[in-house]
Amino acid sequence: MKPLDVLLVAGARPNFMKIAPIYWALRDHAADHVRVTIVHTGQHYDARMSDDFFRDLRLPAPDVNLGVGSASHAEQTARVMSGFERVLLKRRPDVVVVVGDVNSTAACALVTAKIELDGPRRRPLLAHVEAGLRSRDRTMPEEINRLVTDAISDLLLTTCRDADDNLRAEGIAPDKIRFVGNPMIDSLRRCLADAAGCSVLERLGLAGRGYGLVTLHRPSNVDDPERLREILAALREIARETRLLLPVHPRTQARLERFGLAAGGEGIVLVEPLAYLEMLQVMQAASFVLTDSGGIQEETTALGVACVTLRENTERPVTIHEGTNVLAGVTRRGILAGLAEARRKVAAGTRVPELWDGRAGERIAAALTAAEELPA
Ligand code: UD1
Repeated sequence: MKPLDVLLVAGARPNFMKIAPIYWALRDHAADHVRVTIVHTGQHYDARMSDDFFRDLRLPAPDVNLGVGSASHAEQTARVMSGFERVLLKRRPDVVVVVGDVNSTAACALVTAKIELDGPRRRPLLAHVEAGLRSRDRTMPEEINRLVTDAISDLLLTTCRDADDNLRAEGIAPDKIRFVGNPMIDSLRRCLADAAGCSVLERLGLAGRGYGLVTLHRPSNVDDPERLREILAALREIARETRLLLPVHPRTQARLERFGLAAGGEGIVLVEPLAYLEMLQVMQAASFVLTDSGGIQEETTALGVACVTLRENTERPVTIHEGTNVLAGVTRRGILAGLAEARRKVAAGTRVPELWDGRAGERIAAALTAAEELPA
């Protein structure tokens, strides 16, 4: 019997820890009847944003790299689409899996939904992992990517129950939706032991000392000089009491330089972006985390570390209702109040959401291999 050809797509840093558990599960439990291909779009390309993650997650090098690089939204999306169309026409997979909400996710979903392959299956089944998250903020490029991808996917694999509710409210047929849990937490749990062996805390002089971890890269925060200035003022105030570690995303670095702003010094330690294991270690040992990332809201909830989200909204409300996350906004006052509240929350006790149990990859693999009803 012909093996089921599954194509896993990843493009940007937050994708790699989401495809890894699916890859491991298909390799370990279905290798005799499933063939897996990894396609990297090249949306992220610096070693620190990409190759280091493949190494830390023990993923093989991608079978294909489209090498699209950085560009405007339209240009980047278009480059992914034309490169990915060629890959589909050549490889003719049965299933395409896209994860998360980056430009590569939506671009590859669009191509898969419209490709015309001849033969018994005219196009591959399109599965979206992390479906149904909604910030309801359409100024976020990621929200557009989520809406587009979910609207055209055949199988919508969700990380939390509220995502199922969102999808049903948008008219997605319930039989397309599967609540499978959070694969990013599989990667976290599996890699914690390896992360403990990192020397990053010693290297940065943070071992055994209280510190807060900060990540900042969202265009709404770093592309606006006034807002960035306000956030930096809050960081400086917090750093008077607790040293802060800020791994600087390339976008943020470019904006700091363009606006002539200094983020480091006075208790704030700037470093280059950290690889996956290093990041896990510094997150787990931190007294608290200040972030505008999506994934870190979930990782801190899984680790029980206080998280202050520097945004007005979140597509991950389960991390607030059940986990350690507090939505603080982006004013100096809001951030300081958010930090106090997140610490209170953690002291009072939080819980890890349903099915964030390290086995989401297995459930996703089972859903993919059981998806007999491929689109006609
Ligand atoms: C992208 C995702 C965002 C995700 C983030 C994680 C979209 C719309 N956004 O945002 O959801 O949270 O990745 O990092 O898909 N750059 C480098 N090296 C790299 C990659 C980028 O220097 O390897 C620089 C380039 O100057 C680029 C800028 O960073 O223009 C932004 O990169 P881009 O992929 O466009 O968006 P991110 O802000 O990283």
